Amino acid sequence: MKIDVLSIFPNIFTPLQESIVGKATERGLLDFNVVDFREFSTNKHHNVDDTVYGGGAGMLLTAQPIFDAIDSVKTPNSHVVLLDPAGRTFTNKVAQELSQKEHLIFIAGHYEGYDERIKTLVDDEISLGDYVLTGGELGAMVVIDATVRFLPGVLGNDDSADGDSFEDGLLEYPQYTKPAVFREMEVPEVLTSGNHELIRKWRLKESLRKTLLRRPDLLEGRNFTKEELQMLDEIQFEEDNRR
Ligand SMILES: C[S@@+](CC[C@H](N)C(=O)[O-])C[C@H]1O[C@@H](n2cnc3c(N)ncnc32)[C@H](O)[C@@H]1O
Repeated sequence: MKIDVLSIFPNIFTPLQESIVGKATERGLLDFNVVDFREFSTNKHHNVDDTVYGGGAGMLLTAQPIFDAIDSVKTPNSHVVLLDPAGRTFTNKVAQELSQKEHLIFIAGHYEGYDERIKTLVDDEISLGDYVLTGGELGAMVVIDATVRFLPGVLGNDDSADGDSFEDGLLEYPQYTKPAVFREMEVPEVLTSGNHELIRKWRLKESLRKTLLRRPDLLEGRNFTKEELQMLDEIQFEEDNRR
């Protein structure tokens, strides 16, 4: 996969190269570049922003540098993503979808946002959530990190995405490492039993419990198996008795 990010603050992306992106690059699975679109400005001061037509506070990114920067990297297989609070909300599913693309181009905004005509260049608009960031760089980094994890071969067995929260529509079950007892807190016995079937059942049930209690919205529309329906009944009974 190839990823280009258009940003006027290219140094912000340095930490990303230390993490999963660096790993994927080393393994030859990713070609990652940051394009400083200020360098494409034909303005004599290399400005990339200007005042808003009709009045109003702040400045907007102008169309010319971004159009020219996109022209320099775009191919027929590129998928251009604009980071914008008005975009579709980013989820694990969107990350999986993006990981199938051959070439991703992210545009990180700044100031009060973009000249609307920039949106004609774009295939996708993504928001990190219902809040406003100062710039699109942090958003692009989050989207890139979560997307690159899904590229085949990027995660080793030690940190595979299997069982991660959202992978099968559920939050991840609680996990423990050694020692088995810490400050009188014991690891659930089933996890040290060596019985794989019991461990699978315990994990599924605890995933269901956590999702039901914290994010019931994730369960809406789920096609529950018979086993899951029975576990939900048990959880309901256990939780009612706990209160
Ligand atoms: C200060 S914000 C502009 C906000 C804009 N005036 C608005 O109200 O929608 C500057 C840039 O940060 C990025 N940004 C801010 N919040 C974001 C979010 N929730 N998701 C993705 N990008 C965001 C976008 O690239 C945006 O153009």
